[in-house]
Amino acid sequence: MSLSHSAGFPHVVITRRVPQHILDYMASAADLQLWEEDHPIPYQTLLDRVPGCAGVYCLLTDRIDAALLDAAGPGLKVISQMAVGVDNIDVKACTARGIPVGNTPGVLTETTADLALALMLATARRIVEAAEFLKAGQWQTWRPMELTGQDVYGCTVGIIGLGRIGTAVARRLRGFDCKLLYTNPSPNPEAEKLGVTDVDLETLLKSSDIVTLHCPLTPETRGLIGAGELALMKPTAILINTARGAVVDQKALFEALQARRIGAAGLDVTDPEPMSKDDPLLTLPNVVVLPHIGSASVATRTRMAQLAADNLVAGLQGEHLPHCVNPEVYD
Ligand code: DGY
Repeated sequence: MSLSHSAGFPHVVITRRVPQHILDYMASAADLQLWEEDHPIPYQTLLDRVPGCAGVYCLLTDRIDAALLDAAGPGLKVISQMAVGVDNIDVKACTARGIPVGNTPGVLTETTADLALALMLATARRIVEAAEFLKAGQWQTWRPMELTGQDVYGCTVGIIGLGRIGTAVARRLRGFDCKLLYTNPSPNPEAEKLGVTDVDLETLLKSSDIVTLHCPLTPETRGLIGAGELALMKPTAILINTARGAVVDQKALFEALQARRIGAAGLDVTDPEPMSKDDPLLTLPNVVVLPHIGSASVATRTRMAQLAADNLVAGLQGEHLPHCVNPEVYD
């Protein structure tokens, strides 16, 4: 579908339908070519659509690589992603071509932190298992030790990545009287005020009842939690991942959970996505897996779509993007 308002407008490729008022807003500044399907645009189709475009509005399901940038050509002024994570985009290749890349930090922080807490509670208190137990007609009476789990209140939580979302998780957990540890590439100046103690990864893994991941996926964090790291965790420990699936070695995680070398896992992200319904992790009672819904409230997804539109329009107009992951393009 092409939403064309005026000849001579910059051409923009949009890889998925977003709320109509946001499309209308972008259409006031550009000629939009929209992928109408409700699944990701095939890479080859995207490649065929980008020649001569001035902007691409994309999602985390799209691969934006050097070949795509070259296919777009020298008129490409902006890549705007409706997500905070940009691991699907070759940012270095964009920077090398002077193309700013926009993302949507901030607006999804609290919603994603809420979901991390939901996964902690769901796994520690065996919520999904208990609901399935009831639906299966297995609830016969109140038994003293039936479906007993672990307390979240008062436990030790290790936060890997104390950025915006990690900080919002820490704030929530203070209300649960948790002892909080963190590890981050650089110390967070807010940590002391938040009551979060800076430790190394090994100490964090050995000491935490819950380990929660809030780091971006980068070459350094890919496979950060593998067999060795899982072996350091307590046999009752819970791993929560609302960051990116590939931060965890999923095969090693399955083995650790199956052998009860750790207690449980709550995953909102997997590698690959979508996770196959036949994935062995789904056979385990001590695992809750969700389909990447961390930011999925109506208000937050709408804010993300709008912020990505703001980035796009700024880029088309030659202005600095409100949120740019490679500001060095402006040097
Ligand atoms: C992001 O924005 O990177 C999130 O994973 C989407 O919820």
